[in-house]
Amino acid sequence: MNRMARSVVLILMMAFASGAAIQAGGDKAGTWKAFLPEPAYVELTRRSLDTIGKAAKDAKAPLTELRVEALMLAAYAKSVKDAENTAAFGKGAVALAVAAGMKNNADAARKLALELAAHKSVAGGGTSDLHIAIGDIKDVMMLFANKAKGGEGVHADLFYSPKVKNQNGSEALINALASKKLSDANVGKMAKELELLAYRTAVIAALTLERGPPAAQKGETKAWNDYSIVMRDSAIELADGARKKDGPAIFEASKRLENSCVECHGMFK
Ligand code: HEC
Repeated sequence: MNRMARSVVLILMMAFASGAAIQAGGDKAGTWKAFLPEPAYVELTRRSLDTIGKAAKDAKAPLTELRVEALMLAAYAKSVKDAENTAAFGKGAVALAVAAGMKNNADAARKLALELAAHKSVAGGGTSDLHIAIGDIKDVMMLFANKAKGGEGVHADLFYSPKVKNQNGSEALINALASKKLSDANVGKMAKELELLAYRTAVIAALTLERGPPAAQKGETKAWNDYSIVMRDSAIELADGARKKDGPAIFEASKRLENSCVECHGMFK
């Protein structure tokens, strides 16, 4: 890890370790898996804090954006490898997700978001239960939609065809990756951003697993968990394939990943 990455991690750890006890083992056994390598964690967290800071300053930005990005931040902290000191940081992110999900609470939520984005510890707190904070999983799933339909879009390095560029969404990108193997030249150009997108997708799957099925379909919990785990693990394989610049591995992982989306939607959407 380079020195800058290390110092960002240290700043985050120091800022958020202050004042909050480190929790361990509060989760149902086996729900969370530590798969995020530290460099990806540092970069994804940096981008997340950037998004949160910008959304907090924009009075027109919907609070859902803050809520969802705070959930992502909390889930990054629970998915990172080899870093014990992220629990308090995750707690601040959960506090923001809860605040942004409350009615008539925009000013307080934006203030919390600014504190979090400035790497200050978050006061207040309330519940630190990520499970409860997740709420409607559709808000999180919407990240995958095409940008024109309210999704977050994808990095320009991933616009490898006019169609993918025009759609500008991770669901559409995953569909394209699953339908035809990438050329070696495209693998080379896309590797870095594809790895990050795949890890973000795996973290969305981890939130989906933690959330569980809608109340009316509690009886189908096992199917929900199975789809979420396949989604998470095939997204991790996609990230590995991208890092190794392995076109066939990217193709196989994309097919498995896309299948998990389609199968779960067939049963729960
Ligand atoms: C474990 C189940 C599950 C998995 C796996 C899953 N989804 Fe979803 N998805 C849902 C549910 C539930 C909704 C919300 C449906 C609603 O409330 O309308 C949803 C909604 C969405 C939406 C919102 C817009 C819409 O069409 O309703 C998008 C986009 C989406 N999912 C993309 C994906 C992608 C891409 C993947 C795979 C990479 C994926 N999902 C995997 C359960 C899942």
